Amino acid sequence: MNIKIKRQRYPGAESYWQTFVYTGSPENTVAGVLDELNYKDDITDINGEAAPRISWECSCLQGVCGACAMVINGKPALACETFVKDCRGETMTIEPLHKFPVIADLVVDRSVIQKNLRESGSYIKQYMNPEPEEYEHQYSTARCLKCGLCLEICPNYADGSRFYGEVFANDCYAIASKSGKDEVMTEAYDKHFAAGCSKSLSCMDVCPMRIPTLASMAKLNRGLKGGSGK
Ligand code: FES
Repeated sequence: MNIKIKRQRYPGAESYWQTFVYTGSPENTVAGVLDELNYKDDITDINGEAAPRISWECSCLQGVCGACAMVINGKPALACETFVKDCRGETMTIEPLHKFPVIADLVVDRSVIQKNLRESGSYIKQYMNPEPEEYEHQYSTARCLKCGLCLEICPNYADGSRFYGEVFANDCYAIASKSGKDEVMTEAYDKHFAAGCSKSLSCMDVCPMRIPTLASMAKLNRGLKGGSGK
């Protein structure tokens, strides 16, 4: 199989495509493919030209940390959870997430996610009043990896300057369901999520943790502790 990778050597550099040949097992994940391509003494592309090692990120390699989020065959996905045998065609394309600045090759700067969550206060709230009937959904939203795949696919998310996306809506739900009504949080939810969401729900299709964001939105919109009731 040919592996066509969108490359960029450093922030702001010109990007270009480079194709490699992968002859390993179809049981491998895309993370495994990148590992195999990188761990040869000399890396060469499909034309036999010497190529620099491919920059990409991983940590857990079991779909837990979100570090390996990228665009595989046009779809936002985790490299460690995507298998070669499930990719159709002779050529697999791999690109960095499009909505974040590229640091190198497949490594992007996703710090805007933490910045928005921090500035809206969702990292510093105290959990004061847990509601047993909310436990199941609270657990579900707590599994968010902050990987950015939901932002990559979202037609409303651009650069995180105004609309913060699914990742933020689920954190708002988590805060509202545990901490009680909070006007600052409610205002932030209305401004940075409710006002910009067109409910395409493409975020739910790509979420590796299958977080039911629609349920978070419904609960918040019904006015659950801190929801605006809009
Ligand atoms: S390496 Fe952690 S999710 Fe893929």
